[in-house]
Amino acid sequence: MIEHHTHHTGAGALSRPRRVLLATAAVGAALTLAATGCARGEDDVAAGNAAAGDTEGQAQVLDEAASGGETCNAQDHGIEPFDLTDKKVGFSQSEAESNPFRITETQSIKDEAADRGVELITSNAQSDFSQQISDVQDLMSQGAEVLIIAPLNSDGWKPVLDQARAGAIPILTIDRPINGTACEDYVTFIGSDFVEQGRRAADQMIDVLGGEGEVAILLGAPGNNVTTDRTSGFLERIEAEAPGIEIVFQQSGDFTREGGQSVTEQLIQSQPDISGIYAQNDEMGIGAVTALNGAGKAPGDVGIVTVDGTQAAVEYIVDGWIAAVVESNPRFGPLAFEAAAAFGAGEDVGTQLIITDREYDADNAEEELPHAY
Ligand code: AHR
Repeated sequence: MIEHHTHHTGAGALSRPRRVLLATAAVGAALTLAATGCARGEDDVAAGNAAAGDTEGQAQVLDEAASGGETCNAQDHGIEPFDLTDKKVGFSQSEAESNPFRITETQSIKDEAADRGVELITSNAQSDFSQQISDVQDLMSQGAEVLIIAPLNSDGWKPVLDQARAGAIPILTIDRPINGTACEDYVTFIGSDFVEQGRRAADQMIDVLGGEGEVAILLGAPGNNVTTDRTSGFLERIEAEAPGIEIVFQQSGDFTREGGQSVTEQLIQSQPDISGIYAQNDEMGIGAVTALNGAGKAPGDVGIVTVDGTQAAVEYIVDGWIAAVVESNPRFGPLAFEAAAAFGAGEDVGTQLIITDREYDADNAEEELPHAY
């Protein structure tokens, strides 16, 4: 399932201001320097976003401290430096674009390729891992010279890694990692800290329930680090901070709205008085709202905390159904292409670039809605 998008280079695209420069000092963490060249503090983040035309402040922002210290450059990777605008980039999406997270992620990659005048070919594996492996192999056979991959799972990539290495094709992974050796198998991983998202969801749940109650977890799809990390961070924080909260139910809703709804319908049968639901993405949380509504519950009867930051979920905060949303920002285009361009230019790029995520609750949902996707 490969789509083609050819974007012709225009002078405007080439002369546009660089948004964020990814380079690192020898010891340093992957850095974030705004176009001004200043170290990126809060004011600089705003300045950088404004320089990028990001008036809504929606762009991803690197967390310098969390990003780790290793770097990779073309020479270390054994690849000749290149100009990204001369290259064909292949993007492999893992999950169906029915989830706003995936719609926004893919669109962000397409928009950035178009802005930079880079030719892009894309594929979507519809949550089928073997399909994703063959998708990426197809992208390479169609001439992709740089790969941006949003992997479904982290293991099982050896055939792709071997083929890419043989063809001197650099790989950047976004959102979820690929297990391998940095700067040998891939250039960089760009994504959120999912364990921290789980901790922050727990903080919100503790607040909503006043530290006491019975909580259900709607787990994401099995077999990927997002689900395990969002679970471990949540449990760790609840255990440490809220002994009065008991986790009484955990079941996968597969990161889908239908899954969240049907699992919550089962939950209501066995635990009709459940106090809280932690849904590991917004789509499952919205499915939970439908199930609770159908069972005669009112907004606020069950404290729901979710992860992602979709418009629909943030609107449910305004309506009182969802208590809080921890953001997972899918707008990877600018950072991914900036990293690829910097790598191509022979610069050092951090091998682990971790972004910061915002949070929505009843106090800010209405005002912050423009940041949602
Ligand atoms: O990997 C990120 C997760 O994948 C998002 O939270 C979710 O919506 C998607 O399915």
